[in-house]
Amino acid sequence: MALQEDDFKKVISHAKEYGFVFQSSEIYDGLSAVYDYAQQGAALKNNIKEYWWKAMVQLHDNIVGIDSAIFMHPTTWKASGHVDAFNDPLIDNKDSKKRYRADVLIEDYVGKLDAKIEKEVAKAQKRFGEAFDKEQFIATNPRVLGYKQKGEEILARMGKSLSEENLADVKALIEELEIVCPLSGSKNWTDVKQFNLMFGTKLGASADTAMDLYLRPETAQGIFVNFLNVQKTGRMKIPFGIAQIGKAFRNEIVARQFIFRQREFEQMEMQFFIKPGTQKEWYEKWKETRLKWHHSLGLGEDNYRFHDHEKLAHYADAAADIEFKFPFGFKELEGIHSRTDFDLGSHEKYSGKKLQYFDPEINESYVPYVVETSIGVDRMFLAVFSNALREEELENGSTRTVLKLPAVLAPTKAAILPLVKKDGLPEIAHQIVEDLKWDFEVAYDEKDAVGRRYRRQDALGTPFCITVDHQTLEDQTVTIRHRDSMDQNRVAISELSSIIKAEVDLKHWLKKMN
Ligand code: GAP
Repeated sequence: MALQEDDFKKVISHAKEYGFVFQSSEIYDGLSAVYDYAQQGAALKNNIKEYWWKAMVQLHDNIVGIDSAIFMHPTTWKASGHVDAFNDPLIDNKDSKKRYRADVLIEDYVGKLDAKIEKEVAKAQKRFGEAFDKEQFIATNPRVLGYKQKGEEILARMGKSLSEENLADVKALIEELEIVCPLSGSKNWTDVKQFNLMFGTKLGASADTAMDLYLRPETAQGIFVNFLNVQKTGRMKIPFGIAQIGKAFRNEIVARQFIFRQREFEQMEMQFFIKPGTQKEWYEKWKETRLKWHHSLGLGEDNYRFHDHEKLAHYADAAADIEFKFPFGFKELEGIHSRTDFDLGSHEKYSGKKLQYFDPEINESYVPYVVETSIGVDRMFLAVFSNALREEELENGSTRTVLKLPAVLAPTKAAILPLVKKDGLPEIAHQIVEDLKWDFEVAYDEKDAVGRRYRRQDALGTPFCITVDHQTLEDQTVTIRHRDSMDQNRVAISELSSIIKAEVDLKHWLKKMN
């Protein structure tokens, strides 16, 4: 079974203990909401990025990838709307002096209503057993319908108040719902205020000539400002996409839940440029394509759901999140946004340069519309990692901790283990490493009893353990142990490469998207 909310701490400590994620600058007591990826974590993260890049860029002949700078001309952020509108509504509790995002307090309240619905479902499931029809129960049970309606009304009102900048009503809603500060338990709130999330910095040597810059809060703008350069030099025809992976920075007020919400993080974004009027169709298409990408990794289809936005960002005419069931509940993993011609139109206005596409089919120039897919690498990491971490009870009554990562993403694909450190077994094991390392990330381990070495590789998520023993000396065979089933079988050394490839090959996994 996957771990539950209470075990989220285990996810964090496992990530540290096995060299996946460390707190940044830990020797100085760390920096809040900033993390470093360690030897295992960096490998897993790179594999996630490769899985995305191949699916988006390599497999689409009309999508190209770029790598734009983090620093951008400051007018970019005026044009994009981030200077004026990239705000979070914040509220302070006067007793605890703790600062919260007002919308998060309200969403957490609605989350509790969702949890009540889940409880009702679980109770009914127990009562009715096999005959239970979940969908029908959710659609007809008066208590569930009551919770659902209440949640929807709250979110609709919050969405309306936020888009109308009616912050007094956001505060009124918090008071009406009798939301208390999780720390002090009091309802003694300040007014709700807006807070801009961009980090500022300076470019230039002297204080009087220095230019104020921002660290980019999204990678998307690096794509928009390069739209025409890429379209012309790449001879791209609409519809086409530009993708990129890179760092983004946000001065988050509520930075918690480990790598879920950080101040420095990474995004994988793709802007798809289309003919105006076709945005609805492309928006639906990209929602479907991205969900298939997630499903291809086999983390469980029930762990995903769409959430349509009530409050649209300043650039969007439609937006949905792909939410994932993290150990702390369903939360946003990826956003699909229909951005209209907002960004290119605005950059045209602020730069004075035309950012239009000449469409030979209709003999006309226009500012293209855009559908964006945007996913956080770190959130994807957390989704994969927390979903994979299991504690299993074995037949002999002992337990094992195993990281059931999709094999394609595992940092190490196979560990090569000589049964003992003598009789020529290490030499054969080293030779196997030498042969396999050209195609796969492999590790050699000779420390401790072989059972303990298996456990360590289970905890690291390594799909295969290959053991060299005395029989190997006679017939050039080894045992291969499969992480998930723990089955072991004897195979020829010459077969290893094809056995590993069959399970870790990117093509094998990405084909599941079709
Ligand atoms: N270009 C659109 C954009 O940036 P967003 O919904 O603000 O949209 C996209 O962010 C994705 O980036 C989110 O779905 C999430 O996965 C990730 N993300 C956003 N803020 C984050 C943070 N503070 N820490 C980690 N990931 C974050």
